[in-house]
Amino acid sequence: MSLEPRSTTSSHPAPPATVPDLVPGPEPAEPRTGTAFYTPIWLVAVFGAALYWATLYVDRHGGGFNPMVFTPGELLADVEARVPRSEADVLLAKGRQVYNTYCSACHQPNGRGTPGQFPPLAGSDWVLTEGPNRIIRIVLDGMQGPITVNGVEFNNAMLPWREQLTDEDIAAVLTFIRGNKDWGNNAGPVSPAQVKVIRDATAARGTFTPWTAAELLTIPVKD
Ligand code: HEC
Repeated sequence: MSLEPRSTTSSHPAPPATVPDLVPGPEPAEPRTGTAFYTPIWLVAVFGAALYWATLYVDRHGGGFNPMVFTPGELLADVEARVPRSEADVLLAKGRQVYNTYCSACHQPNGRGTPGQFPPLAGSDWVLTEGPNRIIRIVLDGMQGPITVNGVEFNNAMLPWREQLTDEDIAAVLTFIRGNKDWGNNAGPVSPAQVKVIRDATAARGTFTPWTAAELLTIPVKD
């Protein structure tokens, strides 16, 4: 048995006797048992706050996860095409198309016609009647001879469209010109059924029998 002094701790052997001034360091911490991992409470609070903020952020800026919000660069027209529309909107859109194809060359895109040649549809006392009975006839079979529109006389001819345009086309174009707010017009819509009744009732006249203003004025504007 040695008489040399021993370290007071059992885990550390006594320093070798050859290094007498070596002082034993502090004892290392006892190893923990088990697998417990301690998270500081402030970290939990920071995470919680961040999650809360993120939820609010997505709520306010997420657009309800609506795909239209997340599809960038779409044209308004594309979006409108996917939005369900009323029957009147559909008729108006179709009417604009028919007008641009079949009528605007003479009556002009702005509906003002050409002085001395083509009468105006914008503000026209023929277009803005209570019912469309006369203008349906004009579009079906055309017209010729003198006509007074808003007090101004024209004497020319308009072609018939009975063969080219369907009841729906005619209803659409007349709905478009009667209700065209850009032209200051605000008269009621025309339905394909109204066109069909007149198309059938006037079929016997023959396609190339244009109306005259005098004849049309004997027909009530509305049934
Ligand atoms: C080739 C030129 C021409 C085209 C195309 C034409 N029109 Fe006309 N339209 C006329 C002329 C000319 C008159 C007047 C006829 C007359 O002098 O008797 C007229 C008269 C009218 C009138 C009654 C008068 C008025 O100004 O309100 C209406 C309504 C009308 N057109 C609607 C239409 C519609 C709708 C279309 C397309 C489907 C159309 N027109 C296409 C030349 C045209």
